[in-house]
Amino acid sequence: MSNRMIWNQTAHFGAGAIAEIPGELASRGFAKAFVVSDKVLVDTGVTGRVTRLLDDMGFPFEVYSDVTPNPPIEAVLRGLAAFEASGADVLIGIGGGSPQDTCKAIGIISTNPEFADVRSLEGVAATKNPSVPIIAVPTTAGTASETTINYVITDVERQRKFVCVDPHAIPVVAVVDSEMMSSAPRSLKVATGLDALTHAIEGYTTKGAWELSDLFHLKAIATIAESLLGAANGDPVATERMALAQYIAGMGYSNVGLGLVHGMAHPLGAFYNAPHGVANGILLAPVMAFNADATGERFRDIAVALRVEGAADLSIADARMAAVAAVSAFTRDLGNPTTLREIGAKEEDLPALAQAAFDDVCTGGNPREVTVEQILALYWSVY
Ligand SMILES: NC(=O)c1ccc[n+]([C@@H]2O[C@H](COP(=O)([O-])OP(=O)(O)OC[C@H]3O[C@@H](n4cnc5c(N)ncnc54)[C@H](O)[C@@H]3O)[C@@H](O)[C@H]2O)c1
Ligand SMILES: [Fe+2]
Repeated sequence: MSNRMIWNQTAHFGAGAIAEIPGELASRGFAKAFVVSDKVLVDTGVTGRVTRLLDDMGFPFEVYSDVTPNPPIEAVLRGLAAFEASGADVLIGIGGGSPQDTCKAIGIISTNPEFADVRSLEGVAATKNPSVPIIAVPTTAGTASETTINYVITDVERQRKFVCVDPHAIPVVAVVDSEMMSSAPRSLKVATGLDALTHAIEGYTTKGAWELSDLFHLKAIATIAESLLGAANGDPVATERMALAQYIAGMGYSNVGLGLVHGMAHPLGAFYNAPHGVANGILLAPVMAFNADATGERFRDIAVALRVEGAADLSIADARMAAVAAVSAFTRDLGNPTTLREIGAKEEDLPALAQAAFDDVCTGGNPREVTVEQILALYWSVY
């Protein structure tokens, strides 16, 4: 039995860290950049903070911003065609998970054209070549896509979101600059922060968890618990802590997997275009309660990381309940929705959602084995 860890070659952190991008481009010998972002970020000038640096150094680039949340296959294909026409030799992803994941798919297909249908990248794809080099600049404190080997694409036609797992997709450089995240509206900060908390909790309890990934996940849980509210309310120090915490969670979960919360959140994105973090926030505490008996001492550790008073001395049954209650209170206090109705879910879809969640790549990592019927009951419990 061996364990594998894969991280970026280089990562820069801190307010103002985007100033390192010109140096990275120059020292790596790149000649032209293809920037993958989205329209909101271009219109609000967030993307421009980076492209201005490229202008200042006289570095040629093109911008592709035709990416929408829960990014569809079509956004990948249009971006791929534009990238190949551009003659660029480096990709710069600027955005939340949606532009980052689109950027990864473009980079992977460009060097592995046999996967040009996109759908065949689902799961662990047998690509032979590393992606076109990617410099990833997150604008949300959530997905950690800048340091993960995963990307998630939506098949609109078949109403499916699919997860691709490929070490070849990891960005070579991550630039985690909290100032790139500060313009996000409160609800987005809450949702993406709950995505990060879900990564940390699912990563800590997933089947593949081990000593090294545990370090990252516990640190991430504690830091998110103490800084998400402040970050949501615009405090710059807390925003910087969240930027780091979500990355730390990514260093862990990318290497060990997730669980049923993500398995159940993905179909909600595919069916209703629900924001990924909102869906996770609704499901996290109920799925934790479902998993509790299959987690050994781990929920006690989570309760301690969440600063539940006396958690170290509780019986294990009480410690597990305390961890679930703490997460439930945390998500409620942040104002995340708590029911599927609030994100437009329809009763008649629940059986199809349950089957899709059962089939999702992430569900295999869940600490407790689960049936389609149990997933359906869980969806009902939060409907
Ligand atoms: N690759 C991975 O490892 C991984 C992990 C988790 C989730 N994901 C995927 O990532 C996607 C979700 O990404 P996300 O939650 O970061 O959101 P997102 O990228 O979908 O963006 C959501 C909205 O927020 C806006 N936005 C982003 N940053 C902003 C900022 N700084 N200021 C103002 N507006 C801003 C965007 O323009 C967009 O309209 C989902 O598809 C999810 O499945 C990927
Ligand atoms: Fe996620």
